[in-house]
Amino acid sequence: MPATLSSQDVVALFQRFVIGNYTRYPVCLVRGEGSSVWDAEGNRYLDFFPGWGCDLLGHCPPRIVEAVREQAGKLIHVPNTWYTEAQGLLAQALSERTGWGGQCFFCNSGTEAVEAAIKLARLYGKPGRYKIITMVNSFHGRTLGALSATGQPKYHQGLEPLLAGFNYAPFGDLAAAARLVDNETCAILVEPIQGEGGINVPPAGYLPGLRELADKHNLLLIFDEVQTGMGRTGRWFAHQHWDVQPDVMTLAKALSGGIACGAMIAKPQVAEKLRPGTHAATFGGNPVACQAALATIETIEAGGLLERAERIGTFFRQRLGALKARCPSIQEVRVKGAMIGIELSLDGTRMVNRCLERRLLINCTHGTVLRLLPALTLTDAEMEEGCGILEDVLLTDKP
Ligand SMILES: Cc1ncc(COP(=O)(O)O)c(C=O)c1O
Repeated sequence: MPATLSSQDVVALFQRFVIGNYTRYPVCLVRGEGSSVWDAEGNRYLDFFPGWGCDLLGHCPPRIVEAVREQAGKLIHVPNTWYTEAQGLLAQALSERTGWGGQCFFCNSGTEAVEAAIKLARLYGKPGRYKIITMVNSFHGRTLGALSATGQPKYHQGLEPLLAGFNYAPFGDLAAAARLVDNETCAILVEPIQGEGGINVPPAGYLPGLRELADKHNLLLIFDEVQTGMGRTGRWFAHQHWDVQPDVMTLAKALSGGIACGAMIAKPQVAEKLRPGTHAATFGGNPVACQAALATIETIEAGGLLERAERIGTFFRQRLGALKARCPSIQEVRVKGAMIGIELSLDGTRMVNRCLERRLLINCTHGTVLRLLPALTLTDAEMEEGCGILEDVLLTDKP
């Protein structure tokens, strides 16, 4: 069915009525299925970055659509003054998959999950400790607490003064993190793999080393798994690759298969610091989001999608590794499951635009890193199709 308004009509609406805080492509998307999306004119795009990492199962995964439809017909939202089965079952399902018995607080986004973790760390640190060590080039969200935690000055500009107490260590540098600990430090907050910072995989020993450092000084170790969680890297949570446990973990993005949902999961002895009145989120843990998350977990398990993430990673590692040998502008290829970064020696935005012309959707982060966060349902044929376009674009680039 054709859309009622053309892409151009919709762009005109945005120009008048929507605040211009995003750089948008002049395309109005109207429908999606798996790794394909269609615009108002009926053009199909292959999506290697579905929903900024939220659509881990592709667009409109049938089991999620069904779960949302069914729940929406029964009960859409009730506040956290009541119990709901879906929230209880989701907390159990997540806790069981952590392997360290976490308890959950639910919210609606990644930045909210990080805010909850910051508050929990400060409550844990009482009396006297409030400082949190985070990493250079990290990304934790846009609300002022999470933004202060984010170790990228470009995002702080114009918003100072930030929340006090954040100190940044270079990612991967254990000694630098250790030097930042003082008697006011209460926590270390780190992405197991930096996402927005350019798909930076930690060196061996780094995450276990942070665990040791945290234990030595009685600090909370908080893993921000908003981008890496829910099977993206081939394990439920990326930290499970390194056999290390956090005290607190944050989730969002892919948690509910594309429906807004966030969570902070904490070990019970830490979680108990959040008493009634200390924190809340009106929509957090609503039954629609929780049913979507339960359906997401079910779909990942039924479809063997953790293994599929590994397979996707192997495919891209081989294909892009071979391309690197032929393409001088590729500096490095970094892959962990379905989390893929291609570091270029040139501006990546131009490549994103050239891919868009060929109807392949990708992302550029950190200026020079092409970032792909494909759906775990991406087929072999779609991987071939998209890699073919990427190869063409990168091999024929003339600045
Ligand atoms: C690691 C990490 N934490 C937090 C966030 C913020 O999530 P949201 O945009 O849902 O607030 C992001 C978003 O990209 C992220 O990658």
